[in-house]
Amino acid sequence: MQGRSLVVAKSAADCLEGRDRALAMELVNGVLRWYWKLDYLLNQFLKKPLRNKEQEVKLLLLMALYELTELSTPDYAVVNEAVSASKVMGKQWAKAMINGVLRNFIRDQEACLKKMESNQEAFYSHPYWLIALLKQDWPEQWQAILQANNQRPPLWLRVNAAQNDTETYKELLQEQGLSSSLHPFALQALKLDQGVDVTSLPGFEKGQVSVQDAGAQLAACLLDVHKGHRVLDLCAAPGGKTCHVLELEPEIESMTAVELEENRMSRVRENLHRLNLKAELIVADASDDAWWDGRQFDRILVDAPCSSTGVIRRHPDIKSLRWEEDIKSLVNVQQKILQQAWQMLDPGGKLLYVTCSVLRQENEAQIAGLLSTHNDAVELNLIEEGSDEWGVACQHGRQLLPGENDNDGFYFCCLSKPVE
Ligand SMILES: C[S@@+](CC[C@H](N)C(=O)[O-])C[C@H]1O[C@@H](n2cnc3c(N)ncnc32)[C@H](O)[C@@H]1O
Repeated sequence: MQGRSLVVAKSAADCLEGRDRALAMELVNGVLRWYWKLDYLLNQFLKKPLRNKEQEVKLLLLMALYELTELSTPDYAVVNEAVSASKVMGKQWAKAMINGVLRNFIRDQEACLKKMESNQEAFYSHPYWLIALLKQDWPEQWQAILQANNQRPPLWLRVNAAQNDTETYKELLQEQGLSSSLHPFALQALKLDQGVDVTSLPGFEKGQVSVQDAGAQLAACLLDVHKGHRVLDLCAAPGGKTCHVLELEPEIESMTAVELEENRMSRVRENLHRLNLKAELIVADASDDAWWDGRQFDRILVDAPCSSTGVIRRHPDIKSLRWEEDIKSLVNVQQKILQQAWQMLDPGGKLLYVTCSVLRQENEAQIAGLLSTHNDAVELNLIEEGSDEWGVACQHGRQLLPGENDNDGFYFCCLSKPVE
């Protein structure tokens, strides 16, 4: 039930305004984040399972349990509001049941939460298939990854390097009473210590700053773009990395951004417009070369569609919307896109493969596949000699895990094609 119903609830919450919207989003995102835990708790107190047509009542109970377990709303207020909401929803039949379930939970919660520790799906609030994959891929780190995925994400900004240095913008924020902190190796990144309407940030409309996770900001730096380069950004929407590359090196020869979905490409257009940047935008499928004129590129960024398992804390609905079966088809598309990209790379050029996944089959296994079929591909070191280490070294490339330095989880690998 959870996937569809919660996504519908999220769209409904999105239509509200002001404080109502904020509370509704908090409740929906909270239930999305803690679904497996809340569902377990609910099942301990229901006398019989709720039928399919009673899913709205189930959602109401899950939201009430979320408030009781994760928020500081007083218990009596949660129970009263849930009972009143059932009347508004025309579900009077459920009043006594809702009252009973919530009161029993309040009374027995300590013992119930203790019992839940032996159920990993509920304890870590993730679907079991994902817990199993994380255990397999990250035997040392899987618990830390699961815990990081359940945190609230911070708000990271990217300072426009063409307009300001990061320290100067940090001072501008401070003058407005907004404190922020730097990231140890994402040089344009600032983490805001408080939530804020980003459109009110100094110079936002003039493109001085954008919202982008600090981990995502590493991509443009690792791509190592210089004056005169022809750059290709495959899978570009919403254009965060396209814009970052252009901010770092305004004197490139050209930027071509390819994206499959027209409606997502409009986000790239909007971002370029606000930041006063230019790129050639092509709506096309990057897994074939029908759109390509045959001229090779000096730099190619492949920010491949993936399971998004590195950005779950920012998008908790991923846990409900993704299924294990999806991974196989994503791996197939990634492989095709990577193969196409390789033929588009000029000898002497560099290709950076990025995903926001923490699954090895989408990351280092893809690179191993490319290296085994292309003996002209050479893996490059991502960390310059003498520089500080970041992330985890994989068989190929490096993995930034979610929560590390408070950034989201990303995988990076850089390949070069030597001049013949
Ligand atoms: C991880 S997102 C890219 C994020 C973007 N690089 C940024 O930094 O803002 C992946 C994008 O790939 C697009 N995509 C998926 N399959 C594709 C394909 N076959 N060809 C081109 N784009 C594709 C998705 O619509 C999505 O916008």
